[in-house]
Amino acid sequence: MNFSALHEQIKKKTDEGLAAQVKKLPDDAPRLKAAMNHALLVGGKRMRPLLTQLVGNMLDLPSQDQLAISMAIECIHAYSLTHDDLPAMDDDDLRRGQPTCHVAFDEATAILAGDALQTLGFSILADAPLSDYAHNQRSVLLSVLAKSAGYRGMCGGQAIDLASTGQDITLETLKKLHNLKTGALLRACVEMVIVATPNIAPLEQEDLLTFADAIGLAFQVQDDILDVEGSSEQLGKPSGSDIALGKNTFPALLGLAGAKQELQKLHDKALQALARLPYNTDTLASFSELLVKRDH
Ligand code: IPE
Ligand code: IPE
Ligand code: MG
Ligand code: MG
Ligand code: MG
Repeated sequence: MNFSALHEQIKKKTDEGLAAQVKKLPDDAPRLKAAMNHALLVGGKRMRPLLTQLVGNMLDLPSQDQLAISMAIECIHAYSLTHDDLPAMDDDDLRRGQPTCHVAFDEATAILAGDALQTLGFSILADAPLSDYAHNQRSVLLSVLAKSAGYRGMCGGQAIDLASTGQDITLETLKKLHNLKTGALLRACVEMVIVATPNIAPLEQEDLLTFADAIGLAFQVQDDILDVEGSSEQLGKPSGSDIALGKNTFPALLGLAGAKQELQKLHDKALQALARLPYNTDTLASFSELLVKRDH
C-alpha cells in the first residue's frame, strides 16, 4: 500500500472511531453535541493519529491501543483549535474550510465544546479497552497526555504565544513557544506508543523522541510558512492571520528563506534519528516528508 492510501485508511478508521464516541454521548445538550461534532468531525488531516499509528505499527502495538491513543490525542487537538480560534485568542472565522465553532454556534458553546472535547479525550484513554500491557500502563498514558496538553505543553505554549504577540522575542524563545504549543502533542503521540509497548530499549526511545521533537517543531514552522504562502481556500483557514495579529513566527524572525532552511534542517534531523533505529522506518520518513511538503 502506498503512503497516501495508508494515510487515508488510518484517517477513515480514526474518523469512524471518533464519530462513534460522540454519537454515544446522551442527547441532553444537543447544541453542545452538535458543536463538538462540528469541531471534531468536519475535516482535519488527522496527522496526529497518523503519526501514532505509524509508530504503533512499527513497534507492533495492538491496533486497539493505537486507536485509543489516536482518538484521545485528536480530541485534545480539536479542542485546542476550537479555543485557538476564539475572539479572545486568534479571532479566526474559518477552520477546515468551515466557519469556526464560535461562528457556526456562539462563543459560549464553542468554549464548552472545547472543554467537553478535552475531557472526552481523557475519558477515551481512561475507559477504552486496551491490551493487558497497555492497560497496566494506563495511568502513565494519562499522565503523558495531561502533561503535553497543559501548562507544560500546549496551553503553556499558547500562553507564551499570546504574551509575546507584538513583542520582539529571540529565536530561542520562539522555538520554546512552538515546541510547547504544537510540538508537545506530536511528541505525546510517540511517547504514548512507547509507554504502551513493552521492551523498547532506552536508546531506541531516545531516537524516537528526537524524531518526534524534530517533526513537532517542523510542523509549526511549516504552518507559519503556509500562513504566508498559502491561500485561505487552500488552507481551509485564513491565510495572513499571523501577520495581521503581529504573531511571532519563523518567517517573521528569519524571513521566508530562513524559515525554509530551518524546516529542511529539522527534516534532516528527523531522518537522521530514524536512520539510527533498528526498524523499517520508511513510513515515518514519508511522514516527515509529508509534513514539510504539505500545502495545507
Ligand atoms: C493546525 O494543525 C494547528 C497547529 C498545531 C499547527 P493541523 O494542521 O494538524 O490541523 P488539522 O487538524 O489538519 O485541521
Ligand atoms: C496553533 O497555532 C497551535 C495550537 C495549539 C492550536 P496557530 O494559531 O498557528 O494554528 P492555526 O494556524 O490557527 O491552525
Ligand atoms: Mg494561535
Ligand atoms: Mg490560530
Ligand atoms: Mg498557524
